[in-house]
Amino acid sequence: MSIPNAFCVPGPSPQAVVAPLTHDAIFLVVAVKPDPESQAVVRGFCADLGALIRAVAFRDIEGNLSCVIGFGSDAWDTLVGAPRPAGLHPFQEVRGTPHHAVSTPGDVLFHIRAARMDLCFELASQIMARLGNAVTPIDEVHGFLYFDGRDLIGFIDGTENPTGQAAVDATIIGHEDAVFAGGSYVIVQKYVHDLTAWNALPTEDQERIIGRTKLADIELDDDVKPTSAHSALTTIVENGREVKILRDNMPFGSAAQGEFGTYFIGYARSPSTIEKMLVNMFIGQPPGNYDRLLDFSRAITGNLFFVPSVPLLETLASDPLAAAVSAPTASTHAAAGTPPVHDGSLGIGNLKGVPQS
Ligand code: HEM
Repeated sequence: MSIPNAFCVPGPSPQAVVAPLTHDAIFLVVAVKPDPESQAVVRGFCADLGALIRAVAFRDIEGNLSCVIGFGSDAWDTLVGAPRPAGLHPFQEVRGTPHHAVSTPGDVLFHIRAARMDLCFELASQIMARLGNAVTPIDEVHGFLYFDGRDLIGFIDGTENPTGQAAVDATIIGHEDAVFAGGSYVIVQKYVHDLTAWNALPTEDQERIIGRTKLADIELDDDVKPTSAHSALTTIVENGREVKILRDNMPFGSAAQGEFGTYFIGYARSPSTIEKMLVNMFIGQPPGNYDRLLDFSRAITGNLFFVPSVPLLETLASDPLAAAVSAPTASTHAAAGTPPVHDGSLGIGNLKGVPQS
């Protein structure tokens, strides 16, 4: 369930955010029913997810099955309450001219990845069986690897992802929000493409829209690459340093329905990095100089989730007394002038729906 220990991840174990790109994936978004019983089922499930993943993964250990669970802002308030991860809020829609990044409902995300769809499907089925009537399904997308890692628009996607330690540094929360260290943020958007219009464009025009060559996936020279290129607008530089995110986009679709899509999924240490990319894409940099990929791609969903560390996830179901005796919080350390080391539990014993001691 957590990422391999080959990288330096101080503090609580993260979930499998930095997992290898896989052949198949399921993106499952559900809503939690508002009654206390349903909320208790979901909280209890949090402690069991690791065992479920292990059980299904063991059926083919080379299948690289992993699953990340994330919680939307409203779900966090209902299931957990204070304290809140610093960057957690509802997905902020972005209204540009003429394109619009919509914000849509969704309490819990499951990002299931494996080398085989049967493993993904089995885990999704076990998760839904365990959650039963406590949740309402909102969206389920089955993503697949398309040739050499291409989107259905024909371009290789994922090349500029950070790898190894850089991927950990880009995605895993550290001392900046010590209570939630080991966590991450994830933004998902489901895009559908007008492939007929896209395929009618000359390849050179497509390449200028993406900012890379189509066949060989080489970045265009700066003197050729327009400032509106997708790869230019999604490059964020702060204090002279590029701030990266980790993407694991997947194609999906239905040939019979004429649906051709890209499921965008981006993990980041702070959601503000992805939000800046979205503003650049939809409003433009400067305003009006928007991402022409959007003339052929419509965002039909948009959600932001917080991904707790593994120990914090397990705490969501635990006895509040156990949480209350956990390690000191960041503020305690700040007062003592020592660096915060957190065990991943909330350390406050205030889980919603559980009596306080
Ligand atoms: C229709 C949906 C999308 C498609 C088909 C798409 C496709 C691509 C492709 C083909 C590349 C170039 C190869 C690579 O470096 O991965 C790319 C780069 C990138 N995309 Fe997207 N993308 C989509 C949406 C998004 C969104 C919504 C974001 C962020 C909000 C995003 C962020 C990035 C970033 C950060 C890069 C790397 C830029 C660089 O460092 O050169 N993409 N995308």
